[in-house]
Amino acid sequence: MSVLKGKHIILGITGGIAAYKSAMLARLLVKAGAEVQPIMTPSAKEFITPLTLSTLTGKPVISEFFTANTGEWHSHVDLGLWADAMVIAPATASTIGKMANGVADNMLVTTYLSAKAPVFVAPAMDLDMMAHPSTVRNIALLRSYGNHIIEPACGELASHLVGKGRMEEPERIVARLEEFFSSSQSLAGLNMVITAGPTYEKLDPVRFIGNYSSGKMGYALAEEAARRGANVTIVSGPVSVSAKNPAINVVKVESAVEMLDATERAYGAADVIIFAAAVADYRPAEMAGQKIKRDGHEPPTLQLVKNPDIAATLGAKKRAGQFAVGFALETDNEMDNAADKLQRKNLDMIVLNSLRDSGAGFGTDTNKITIIDRNGSRTVFDLKHKSEVAADILDHISSLYHK
Ligand code: CTP
Repeated sequence: MSVLKGKHIILGITGGIAAYKSAMLARLLVKAGAEVQPIMTPSAKEFITPLTLSTLTGKPVISEFFTANTGEWHSHVDLGLWADAMVIAPATASTIGKMANGVADNMLVTTYLSAKAPVFVAPAMDLDMMAHPSTVRNIALLRSYGNHIIEPACGELASHLVGKGRMEEPERIVARLEEFFSSSQSLAGLNMVITAGPTYEKLDPVRFIGNYSSGKMGYALAEEAARRGANVTIVSGPVSVSAKNPAINVVKVESAVEMLDATERAYGAADVIIFAAAVADYRPAEMAGQKIKRDGHEPPTLQLVKNPDIAATLGAKKRAGQFAVGFALETDNEMDNAADKLQRKNLDMIVLNSLRDSGAGFGTDTNKITIIDRNGSRTVFDLKHKSEVAADILDHISSLYHK
């Protein structure tokens, strides 16, 4: 039985010669047991009739914002929420450009902009259009939003020119979807909460105690997890990076107390929680209501109090089936300190960064990690870009979580 059985799939069809292949794609998806809702752009209807698609899928094709004779409104928001995946095949240069830049002038692009589900895009166009810097840039933008690009194949095109631009065959597109939902790396449907960035602890209305955390590691984890189909909430301290994948739910906080509060609220529904934030261990005992003045005053002595340990607080409340991951940033006695933190905070896995490794830790684009499991086994990784490190960490979580 196919993993696509019972899955809700929006099939977006745009106006290109390859639209004739969408009929076969619709049929294969239905045969695999998926519920398929076709959405056509106005120009797609020049290439294939809505009747063909509605007959094959058993659902009326949606193309306009509302049905002309009844005035019935088609909610792109509801559709976006209904879907487990959205597949746009064929995707023309024009639609790809609209998707990349938010030009919501038809039902397909509007639904795309509302969709929280993973999106698969199968471009089809002439080789020169495919190679144009504008198309290349737009496809790169779609990738940055976490969309999956199903690369076109090389071969004879509608123009009779030979090159890259042929839409991938429907069988291969279905195989790609099946792989997405069944792969051991898949996080489809998993609820994940990630803490990220530093916390700022206020001294007075204009000053704070903070740290150099950039949030890059936490955000890289959020992007990669969302790309693999997880429902991601990131509870983020003040950072300059932002989430690119619109499916990521971002909750902004400032202090450790606020971060604990927000994380606790998301924690109940979480399957996997990753504590990637660099939480300030202490905060000023009191916050001055007015700016602390310099003139005529002795330098103040700061009285600090302990902040809550978010990982330890929530680790203690972990229920069966929840999987908790922490980070340990160490300068010495790294392995023992990290293993100790794993125990103390009731984590299932801890990611160790050593500040002795150059290119690892705060602010950098790269990281070098060692993963320690609950049973004490250690996996050492090379220095890599944080997006690749995120993929390694999620692979490791998948393998342990699915066990
Ligand atoms: N952590 C947390 N809340 C805190 C402190 C840490 O949730 N108040 C989490 C971090 O997100 C990380 C793990 O605990 O996943 C370890 O953080 P780290 O700062 O290395 O450990 P500490 O417990 O603060 O220990 P120390 O600073 O003494 O090394």
